[in-house]
Amino acid sequence: MEFQNLIYESSGAIAVVTINRPKVLNALNKAVLQELDQAFAAIAEMREIAVVIVTGAGEKSFVAGADIAEMSAYGIAEARAFSRLGQQVFNRIEELPQPVIAAVNGYALGGGCELAMACDFRIAAQNARFGQPEVSLGVIAGFGGTQRLPRLVGRGMAAQLLYSGDMIGSDEALRIGLVNKVVAAEALMDEAKAIAGRIAAAGPLSVIASKAALREGSNMDLKRALAYERELFAAGFATADQKEGMAAFLQKRKANFQGR
Ligand code: HXC
Repeated sequence: MEFQNLIYESSGAIAVVTINRPKVLNALNKAVLQELDQAFAAIAEMREIAVVIVTGAGEKSFVAGADIAEMSAYGIAEARAFSRLGQQVFNRIEELPQPVIAAVNGYALGGGCELAMACDFRIAAQNARFGQPEVSLGVIAGFGGTQRLPRLVGRGMAAQLLYSGDMIGSDEALRIGLVNKVVAAEALMDEAKAIAGRIAAAGPLSVIASKAALREGSNMDLKRALAYERELFAAGFATADQKEGMAAFLQKRKANFQGR
């Protein structure tokens, strides 16, 4: 796939989507969001892709936020449409059947932090910085930050970050559970690909069902969520992958999953 503002690459079952506007620290304008929408709509249909990694071009920034130059001229209707567009794209990422890993290689601010939070989990380079600095621009987070941040790190820490605009480093992000792991900048993509490789080696239908249970269940009360989990668990027994996975264990060999 060819884009103006993104680089799409794949190797085996792992796809890498790189946001590529390094001169403005990969700020998200409408064009980038529309391309992200197209890229993820296409990836959703690619059965050969098991995992996606999202990162930013250059060594300094993952995404430094929505494009302030573009937003500065917006009126109310344009602002609402921009928020809606970003929310739709990030929902699409969250709802992608395959897992998405954010490899955070520097600034993840505003819309950049919101993009990272729409991914399934985050791995950060030591130099990564996170924050929701919208309040210092006279606005608020509008691509899901006020909702996904408290769900990830708890309401108190989210309140501090959303009200103060404070930036936090990778170690603090690790401590509050915003990222899963911090590695040296030069090791970031290798680490993300190593985790992606382990996910890609698992039963693909099981991974997709796990993501669906995690995502959909978090929007349900516990009883309904457990019923949903139960149905997905039971449905697994209609697949060849369940027969293969369990037979391989009993025969003390590696499973050869077919994704059916
Ligand atoms: C547009 C941006 C940008 C952004 C950086 N640039 N962030 N352009 N939108 N979000 C541009 C700068 O203008 C500059 O362009 C170039 O990238 C390099 O940035 P510098 O500021 O010179 O770099 P540095 O001094 O190292 O500072 C890095 C930084 C700072 C701390 C990340 O750039 C910064 O504070 N950026 C804004 C972060 C932010 O407020 N993000 C939230 C945006 S609001 P030139 O042409 O001068 O070289 C948001 C809302 C989402 O995300 C919800 C919408 C509905």
